[in-house]
Amino acid sequence: MEPSVSIQTRNLNLWYGDFQALINVNLNIRQGIITSLIGPSGCGKTTLLRCFNRVNERYGNVTTTGEIKIFDKNIYDEDVSLIELRKAVGMVFQRPNPLPLSIYENIVFGLRIHSRRQNLNRSQLDEAVEQSLTEVGLWKDLKDHLNTKATSLQLEQQQKLCIARLLPLKPQLILMDEPCSALDVEATRNIEELMLDLAGEYTIVIVTHNMAQARRVSSECIFMLMGELFEHNSTADMFIIPKDPRTAEYIEGRFG
Ligand SMILES: Nc1ncnc2c1ncn2[C@@H]1O[C@H](COP(=O)(O)OP(=O)(O)OP(=O)(O)O)[C@@H](O)[C@H]1O
Ligand SMILES: [Mg+2]
Repeated sequence: MEPSVSIQTRNLNLWYGDFQALINVNLNIRQGIITSLIGPSGCGKTTLLRCFNRVNERYGNVTTTGEIKIFDKNIYDEDVSLIELRKAVGMVFQRPNPLPLSIYENIVFGLRIHSRRQNLNRSQLDEAVEQSLTEVGLWKDLKDHLNTKATSLQLEQQQKLCIARLLPLKPQLILMDEPCSALDVEATRNIEELMLDLAGEYTIVIVTHNMAQARRVSSECIFMLMGELFEHNSTADMFIIPKDPRTAEYIEGRFG
């Protein structure tokens, strides 16, 4: 059976003003696996990632053409609600960015916004907090500190919390832009383990500069160069028999 596709782009182009940052990108990202976006600084990884929840549109003079389908729905259709899109497509950033609120409030914040009409009661919220903190491995350590300010946690815990707060919204996709770049080796390993635990249930796309990380966590890699998708391959093939000499040069660290 063909694996399901979670993200499909067709002839995707993006300009910041008159600078073209994405050039005719065509890709199919598979459901339930981790895909890494790799490539030298400025090649468009973050820009591509931010297309998947239409966050680029916040950055001023951006023009996008082409098609992006997420689970078969074109996210540029007029009837697409940005609020619903961003609920379905969660994002984690380089620096953990919890809200300056308690751990508990960080987790229930999204739920409160997205389920205003349902008026969730306290026990439903409590359950969501326990479930999502358990999923990211924080429940045991934090269950007696739920009123602590999230910004006072260690960076690793903050980043896990930033992942945890997406989960009550049942995201179809989780995007991570260099999620470990602010973390030490130990914390990086723990976040990588968490990503591997979440893969399967969730579809994850990460941007990373760390080739060893791409190799450890992802099933597939996409190598980008100057706004173009250069090579999309299984991680094993990308690192052992890349199709293009420039892919090989980049992953061997000869440029970028
Ligand atoms: N808001 C913006 N306005 C204008 N140009 C931008 C903007 N954001 C990014 N760019 C340009 O678009 C290109 C792609 O940038 P992007 O941030 O997507 O690259 P990247 O691959 O994520 O790089 P890095 O590895 O350094 O994070 C770069 O040339 C960058 O200067
Ligand atoms: Mg970037």
